[in-house]
Amino acid sequence: MIIAANWKMNLTIREAKPLVNSIKKYKGRNKVILCPTFTLLPEMAGMLKKSRISLGAQNCHFEQKGAFTGEVSPLQLKDVGVSYVIIGHSERRSCNAFNPDYNRILSKKIHSAINAGLIPIICIGETDEQRKKAQTKKIIKKQIEASVPKKGKYIVAYEPVWAIGSGKTPTREQIEDIHEYISKLVPGTKILYGGSVNEKNCKEIASISGVSGFLVGGASLEANKFKKIMHV
Ligand code: PGA
Repeated sequence: MIIAANWKMNLTIREAKPLVNSIKKYKGRNKVILCPTFTLLPEMAGMLKKSRISLGAQNCHFEQKGAFTGEVSPLQLKDVGVSYVIIGHSERRSCNAFNPDYNRILSKKIHSAINAGLIPIICIGETDEQRKKAQTKKIIKKQIEASVPKKGKYIVAYEPVWAIGSGKTPTREQIEDIHEYISKLVPGTKILYGGSVNEKNCKEIASISGVSGFLVGGASLEANKFKKIMHV
């Protein structure tokens, strides 16, 4: 299983340290990836040096350098010890909802991340409105076709937007159905589930066919909860 923690815009260095210290000795069989905000990355890279836990970022630009004020490039992420990068999280897609070109930008980010030696975690998923209109598969297909690369290593995270931070999760059957659908579009790719994964439901979700791991938000900020998820 791959257990990726998306810390979003949370924690200062002082707050992150005890959390990292309490999990960094992890010796289990799962692949654990912590994705903090940019400002925490160098400090955490140092803390995780001798650990089996990997470091990920939450976004990157599509160029490796240049006049892009306020952006961070894949090359710069690699430089501080990052190995993974979340791309296309719904919270970032929603900031760009009025940009019809956004899927193309995501595709450029994904290629650029791969070229810099990072593994992108590509997030896809339907909104509540799209789900109610029975458009889930159509949306997922569109997101995959528009952004997933033909070559290079990457991970897909299926995150129904309505399940993120809401405490709601799809049924077992729904998760299995969508993961099976995605695996037909991108055979051989690891597909994570994300959206209200916690220490109570992680075992059940991990047992669903086609689920290769999780992208965890809220529950990854609390050591006791995240430890249980890491050991799923
Ligand atoms: P959540 O977030 O676990 O808090 O629902 C998941 C995510 O946004 O990646």
